[in-house]
Parts: sequence; structure tokens; C-alpha cells
Amino acid sequence: MKLGRATLGLLLLAPLAVRAVEPISLGLALAGVLTGYISYPRLYCLFAECCSQKRSLSREALQKDLDSKLFGQHLAKKVILNAVAGFISNPKPKKPLTLSLHGWTGTGKNFVSKIIAENIYEGGLNSDYVHLFVATLHFPHASNITLYKDQLQLWIRGNVSACARSIFIFDEMDKMHAGLIDAIKPFLDYYELVDRVSYQKAIFIFLSNAGAERITDVALDFWRSGKQREDIKLKDMEHALSVSVFNNKNKIADTTQKQTKLASHV
Ligand SMILES: Nc1ncnc2c1ncn2[C@@H]1O[C@H](COP(=O)(O)OP(=O)(O)OP(=O)(O)O)[C@@H](O)[C@H]1O
Ligand SMILES: *[C@@H]1O[C@H](CO)[C@@H](O)[C@H](O)[C@H]1NC(C)=O
Ligand SMILES: *[C@@H]1O[C@H](CO)[C@@H](O)[C@H](O)[C@H]1NC(C)=O
Ligand SMILES: [Mg+2]
Repeated sequence: MKLGRATLGLLLLAPLAVRAVEPISLGLALAGVLTGYISYPRLYCLFAECCSQKRSLSREALQKDLDSKLFGQHLAKKVILNAVAGFISNPKPKKPLTLSLHGWTGTGKNFVSKIIAENIYEGGLNSDYVHLFVATLHFPHASNITLYKDQLQLWIRGNVSACARSIFIFDEMDKMHAGLIDAIKPFLDYYELVDRVSYQKAIFIFLSNAGAERITDVALDFWRSGKQREDIKLKDMEHALSVSVFNNKNKIADTTQKQTKLASHV
């Protein structure tokens, strides 16, 4: 009832105000009100892309995207859906989301990361809040590793300061220098703040071919023994991966094994 009376009050006041104010200044006042509304974050974000997710990520939409666009990959699908939807809906995550996608070339690792990015930001990979690093492209020279390290840490810090919900995708992790992997490590942990910046809402996605041979082996074993591909459980893969990834000399395993949701690609 209170609301009703307030609206009524406004309506009653309006004609008086119009009479009292000249048309031009009224126009200015109106413009003022409008820009006031537009700079109000939520309304503004209807017209331009904003940090924080578009709308709020819809689990259903992500599931539909994964089901309709991504062929096979039942393990990855399930892990990704639960991990991403769960993380985004958590108002106070204790650590950033780290996803590590392993698999042979052409299994859809980049494809999946694109789908994830698009479900969080309208602009997908082109969004200001999504950052793609390709080891061989952005950090090619082993001799300049110290430079890359400092640069990468500054970038991550700068971008997360500007937008807590930043997404970082690291492609070709298996070709990334171990020193650079170490540089990312501090951001992935359970720290409340690192140098006064909180990384807990950020998303890190690592793509690599490491472990691919073992994944194929497991899939082949299943096929040979007449089982369905869909019967492969994540635990079958986790074992295979923890062996092969640890044996890889650029050990991503060290960084992410404990904290990463392994989304194997078979
Ligand atoms: N599971 C899949 N479902 C649908 N399309 C797929 C799938 N896997 C691959 N593709 C198609 O193949 C293309 C290449 O896949 P993508 O670039 O994601 O491979 P990748 O795993 O990143 O390989 P690489 O290790 O060589 O980088 C994608 O653009 C996509 O169109
Ligand atoms: C390393 O960085 C320095 C300074 O930016 C640059 O001059 C040099 O060419 C780089 N070395 C290589 C191998 O790229
Ligand atoms: C954010 O990351 C990009 C690389 O993706 C970099 O060019 C840019 O300088 C970073 N922004 C800040 C504020 O550090
Ligand atoms: Mg790729």
C-alpha cells in the first residue's frame, strides 16, 4: 500500500513540476535521470558487456550447448557442467576454478573452452575478460623466461584487479616452460588475498596433450574388451592421467593435480 501511495504522490506532483519548470531545463533534468539510469550497472550491462557474468550463467543453457555442439566426451561434459555451473553460482568460492583438459589433437579442447567462455561472457573468446595464452605463440623463447614470468604475473594481476571474474585459458600447456607454470601457481591456491587482490572468482583453464597416449590406451582397452565408450569412468582416466602427466617433464601435474578437476577427453 505504501508503494501505491508513493506512486500516486508522484503522479500528483508531476503536473505541478511541469508547470514550474521551463521545457529546456525539464529536458535536461530528464536526460540527467536517464543517464543516471544508464550508469546504473545492471541496466548499463544490458547494452554493453560487463565484468561479472552475462545475466547469471544458466546451467540449462550450458548443458544444452555442450549436448548439442560437443560430440561424445561424456566425461568432460559432466565434469565441466558441474564444475562451471557450481563455481559460478557460488557467491564466495574459496579458490579459483581450475580446469585441466587433456586429450589428443582435435578432440575439442579449444572448442570446449570457447563454449565455456561464451556461456559466461557474451563476447566469448573476444571478451575483454577472457584471456587466451598460447605457450608457443606468446612465450616462445626459453631464454626470455624471466621476462615472460614477470609479464604474465602482471597481466593476471592487472586483469583480475579490473575484473574478479576473469577467465584465463592456457593452450599447449605441455609445451609451456616449467618456470612459467610456476609463475601461475600462486594464483591457483586457497589464498584469500595475494598482494591485496583476490583471485577466488577467476577461472583458469589449461589445455594440453599431456596424457593423451594414456587416454587413448584406456579407451582402446575398453573397446577391445567390448565395453561401451560411455562406460569409461572418470576414475579410470584419473589413474591413467596421474601416471602419464607426472611422467611428463613439464609437469603440469604438480601445479594442478590436487586442485584441478580433470576433464579427460576420450
Ligand atoms: N568432440 C567434438 N565435438 C564437436 N566438434 C569437435 C569435437 N572435437 C573437435 N571438434 C571440431 O574440431 C575442431 C578442432 O578442435 P579443437 O581445436 O578444439 O581441438 P584441440 O583439442 O584443441 O586440438 P589441439 O590439441 O590440436 O589444439 C573444433 O573447432 C571443432 O569444430
Ligand atoms: C628477450 O627480450 C629482450 C628484451 O625485451 C629482447 O631484446 C630479446 O630479443 C629477447 N630474446 C629473444 C630470444 O626473443
Ligand atoms: C590483461 O591481459 C592482457 C593479455 O591478455 C594484457 O595485454 C593486458 O595488459 C592485461 N591488462 C592489465 C591491466 O594488466
Ligand atoms: Mg587446441
